[in-house]
Amino acid sequence: MSRKFPAGVATGSLVSEIFAHAKENNYALPAVNVVGSSNINATMETAVKLNAPVIIQFSNGGAAFNAGKSLSSENQKSAILGGIAGARHIHTLAEAYGATVILHTDHCAKKLLPWIDGLLDASEEHFKAYGKSLFSSHMLDLSEEPIEENLDISTKYFERMAKMGMTLEIELGVTGGEEDGVVGMGECADPKECKMVADLGIDFLAAGIGNIHGKYPANWKGLSFETLDAIQQLTGDMPLVLHGGTGIPADMIKKAIDLGVSKINVNTECQLS
Ligand code: 13P
Repeated sequence: MSRKFPAGVATGSLVSEIFAHAKENNYALPAVNVVGSSNINATMETAVKLNAPVIIQFSNGGAAFNAGKSLSSENQKSAILGGIAGARHIHTLAEAYGATVILHTDHCAKKLLPWIDGLLDASEEHFKAYGKSLFSSHMLDLSEEPIEENLDISTKYFERMAKMGMTLEIELGVTGGEEDGVVGMGECADPKECKMVADLGIDFLAAGIGNIHGKYPANWKGLSFETLDAIQQLTGDMPLVLHGGTGIPADMIKKAIDLGVSKINVNTECQLS
């Protein structure tokens, strides 16, 4: 089952090839959140040891942290520059490590869109100079907006990104998580709305199925496989994304992969270690 993909940052059709290989061989790609060079390097080192491709992703806060706290965050300046600097670090080192890296960004809510605009400007410059985008893909999380607005904005970004062979992840439903000490249980996605995303040809969908960012509380009911099954039946081969990977028991991870999950996000566990 193991197959060697070329080392370096994977962009364009190679990203789809990697996801197709994951689907054919019933595994999911880990998407590891990073905040600086030490955990970027640790992630690449581990991927090489396991002979597996890996997704490295920056959240908006992670990218700003990479730029340094004293830099202004006005107009997303620090998150744009921190993302670009992190991406260049990975472009410079991935090949030397022998790692195959899909370079991605995590949740981008509507108010953070200028962050992705800045990163796309950088990808367009990189594409002109080297024939490949700086980032492989981005995630837009407009799940708080009405579905029509979510899909309308996402389609515009999808079209801009597709010109460089970049891929897009969007979110429906809500990933739970802690806010002000209260853990929200999230909201399951509506399978019919998920089908609308598949019909638009958008590459990846993070669909809420009772998953939560951070640690799972003792009263967590587990993942809703009924929802995941219904989503997979309506979305066919579209790779599904499972957020909140930290603390999900291995048997649930396996079942989620059987039902179409191809990307699993892990942040808390890595930050803790
Ligand atoms: P955890 O922090 O629960 O691992 O979730 C990570 C995640 O989903 C990032 O989007």
